[in-house]
Amino acid sequence: MEKTLAIIKPDAVERNLIGKILARVEAEGFKIAAMKMAHLSKREAQGFYYVHKQRAFFDDLTTYMSSGPVVILALRRENAVPKWREIMGATNPAEAAPGTLRKELGLNIEKNSTHGSDSPDNAAFEISYFFSQANIHG
Ligand code: CMP
Repeated sequence: MEKTLAIIKPDAVERNLIGKILARVEAEGFKIAAMKMAHLSKREAQGFYYVHKQRAFFDDLTTYMSSGPVVILALRRENAVPKWREIMGATNPAEAAPGTLRKELGLNIEKNSTHGSDSPDNAAFEISYFFSQANIHG
């Protein structure tokens, strides 16, 4: 069983979409291994998105991700990393396939409603960034 890290971003929390996204998580066969709501500091967002620190959008991204509460999830399923990315769709909602979360819910490339790890190695880093082993179930 593989794990991935998912985030329901500030735009989706603000628009009361937590329940809709969690329903999709469960309907797609993921088990929620860990979950919490948090309002990240700018520094926490910078640490989380460290791999993007050279990118032009890094400052805007980390300001946005620390602008309001998020819901952070560790999800467990067979092929959890690629499966969650498939359900989210392309990073830019305008380019995402019909039926994907970002197509249906996302507003733009920054306010794209959800995050998902892009590899099992990054998933391990991202999960450990937010959850201690004692708080990860199953
Ligand atoms: P996420 O999967 O959370 O990982 C990095 C985020 O950077 C990405 O989703 C986007 O929301 C955000 N982002 C903002 N601008 C860009 C861009 N030009 N290219 C890629 N990602 C971007």
